Amino acid sequence: MAAKEPVAPLARDELVIVPMTEEHLDQVLAIEQVSFPTPWSRNSYLRELSDNQFAYYYVCLQGDKVLGYMGMWLIIDEAHVTTIAVHPDYRGQCLGRFLLEELMVRAAALGADKITLEVRPSNHIAQRLYRRAGFVPAGIRKGYYTDTKEDAIIMWKHLLDIEN
Ligand SMILES: CC(C)(COP(=O)(O)OP(=O)(O)OC[C@H]1O[C@@H](n2cnc3c(N)ncnc32)[C@H](O)[C@@H]1OP(=O)(O)O)[C@@H](O)C(=O)NCCC(=O)NCCS
Repeated sequence: MAAKEPVAPLARDELVIVPMTEEHLDQVLAIEQVSFPTPWSRNSYLRELSDNQFAYYYVCLQGDKVLGYMGMWLIIDEAHVTTIAVHPDYRGQCLGRFLLEELMVRAAALGADKITLEVRPSNHIAQRLYRRAGFVPAGIRKGYYTDTKEDAIIMWKHLLDIEN
């Protein structure tokens, strides 16, 4: 098997966060496929991007390459994280943390004063990311993940201390 090209360390000043558009979807869906037990389809993303007035999705680009993406629904003063993922080749370099922080800054700028999400009990890396960012567990949604029958841990964070 051919050796995998080493991935250069990330230079933060080369990264830009822009709203997700249809042109990013091929790359987003490739990351989606290797990141989630039940990946969202192209149509799900298209609906989110064009039909959901509460939805905000962003990609993190290095040049034309999508390194990660995240999304939320914003309903009045509450933001709900719907997705966050980093390209597998770029994980473990604090990119997840960067994306989550950027999402929280954008949520606060759009008027949210709190943010919530669900996470699988088996997803220890994501839980670590969220706790480190100040999210605290606030309850369990029984059987939330229909694919694996897992419960969801519900986490919340107040955004009042976020500067934007
Ligand atoms: C969750 C995810 C976005 C994190 O992205 P990332 O860029 O690797 O995250 P970071 O480098 O910012 O690391 C976040 C935390 O996880 C830890 N971590 C990252 N990779 C890890 C690994 N392989 N093993 C153990 N811990 C790991 C980091 O040390 C860090 O914790 P710390 O701040 O206490 O040191 C990424 O793993 C991913 O895309 N997973 C698949 C999709 C997913 O599960 N999304 C969340 C759904 S709820």
